Amino acid sequence: MNILLFGPPGAGKGTQSALLVEKNGFAHISTGDILRAAIKNKTPLGLEAKVIIDKGELVSDEIVIGLVDEAISGLNNKPFILDGFPRTVVQAEGLDQLLSKMDKKIDKSIFLDVDTDFLVKRLSGRRVCRGCGASFHVEANPTNAEGVCDKCGGETYQRADDEPTSISKRLDVYEKSTSPLKDYYQAKGSLVKVSGIGSMDEVYDRINGVLKA
Ligand code: AP5
Ligand code: MG
Repeated sequence: MNILLFGPPGAGKGTQSALLVEKNGFAHISTGDILRAAIKNKTPLGLEAKVIIDKGELVSDEIVIGLVDEAISGLNNKPFILDGFPRTVVQAEGLDQLLSKMDKKIDKSIFLDVDTDFLVKRLSGRRVCRGCGASFHVEANPTNAEGVCDKCGGETYQRADDEPTSISKRLDVYEKSTSPLKDYYQAKGSLVKVSGIGSMDEVYDRINGVLKA
């Protein structure tokens, strides 16, 4: 089974993907993570993407469709979660084309529903590990020692796009470009809405229930 996890910035896509990888054995494809790795490695793509991401805007459809094509092709048929892709209707159409070329499909398109007030709180308190990419929250899921990743001992930092001006831009971009995907997947019959409010484990149990249904 292949699934899509989509929803606004800060809804918990990365957090739930990590649980689904650990407990259900999915491969995780996050275009945000792929782009941040390119930035870290200072590749030509990373240098181009950094300016766009820090402002809270979207990288071009063509680039991210190419990244996802490459990522899925490298999976050897392992079931996967797509996190943060597609983010526009053009990307969703591109995904349909590349999946049909590979004779694969998305079984469930899970929309993680969280109100804006929660999103701002979650994003502004998020801390991410520079080493392994693990995500924490200063209140909801703090590290044992401040600034030190519990998983690998790396340094945690605040993403540049979790600054207030970028957060507000990302929320606008989400409403305009990504929110229409709910109608897109509703029309295809694969949309499942899941509340992303509650503890991380409660949200995981809801998603796992959807996968078993
Ligand atoms: P991306 O990295 O995908 O960012 P995003 O979609 O804005 O989502 P986030 O990663 O911010 O949130 P999340 O839903 O993963 O939440 P998380 O689990 O971390 O993309 C970044 C940028 O890259 C984009 O803005 C764009 O520029 C570019 N990009 C990426 N993909 C692209 C594409 N397809 N097309 C074009 N451009 C693209 O949780 C957030 C916080 O909340 C954490 O601190 C966490 O600990 C906490 N938390 C999570 N769950 C709970 C809970 N249940 N209760 C309390 N706290 C919780
Ligand atoms: Mg994420």
